Amino acid sequence: MEHMLREASTMVLISLVLVLAMFTSTVNCRGYSKCANVKANDPYQVVFKNNRCYHMVQDSISWNDAASACRARNGTLAIIRNSETNNKISQRATSLDSNDRANVSFYWIGGKVQTAEAAITWERDINGVAIVNPFTAYALNEPLSSGDRGCLLLDPGEKSWATDFCQVAMELTGYVCEYKPNGSESNLRAGMSKLLVTFLLTVVLGHMV
Ligand SMILES: *[C@@H]1O[C@H](CO)[C@@H](O)[C@H](O)[C@H]1NC(C)=O
Ligand SMILES: *[C@@H]1O[C@H](CO)[C@@H](O)[C@H](O)[C@H]1NC(C)=O
Ligand SMILES: *[C@@H]1O[C@H](CO)[C@@H](O)[C@H](O)[C@H]1NC(C)=O
Repeated sequence: MEHMLREASTMVLISLVLVLAMFTSTVNCRGYSKCANVKANDPYQVVFKNNRCYHMVQDSISWNDAASACRARNGTLAIIRNSETNNKISQRATSLDSNDRANVSFYWIGGKVQTAEAAITWERDINGVAIVNPFTAYALNEPLSSGDRGCLLLDPGEKSWATDFCQVAMELTGYVCEYKPNGSESNLRAGMSKLLVTFLLTVVLGHMV
């Protein structure tokens, strides 16, 4: 009998921890609802990944102008470091288009093919760090061009990259800026403290039963 009671209270404690953990993660998600330095953003145009936020902008300007526009807001034209980020941005871009929240078929991203032989040169990270990144998602036969024609465009429908003229503004083209998420660090710290309190409470309660 006593043994069963003990087991029941353990189950209650585990449930309590799970509920609290869920509460904590909800709070964290809410903390990530904004990009620092992006004012009046449509939440549908923002995705979060790698402790960064990526803002999809509908504006037919050249790669050169897009890079300047992101930098002017203390961000950078998006550096796509892995397939998860490439997929997440592509999926959101596709859904923006199919839900008539954007008329954008291609997005500039922050990489450039300088010469036919060279790897991609990425924009500097928002912390000022030069990025060397082996991940690529080229479409078949890409990179077709380099130099002034070597600027990278994301085709969200195919989740793949192509190259085009850096100084030309094309129809149905937007760009993706990368920023720090608003308040991420303090939210992370708050989340950690909550987890610690939850853990300590569990230990104390566990000793009481
Ligand atoms: C973060 O968002 C809050 C609420 O919208 C705002 O008051 C604050 O200025 C933002 N912080 C940064 C660094 O953008
Ligand atoms: C960018 O950063 C500079 C220097 O910290 C600051 O003065 C400026 O207000 C920032 N601009 C934006 C758009 O956040
Ligand atoms: C997309 O283009 C169509 C046709 O020109 C227009 O009716 C619609 O408002 C546009 N949507 C956005 C989000 O710009």
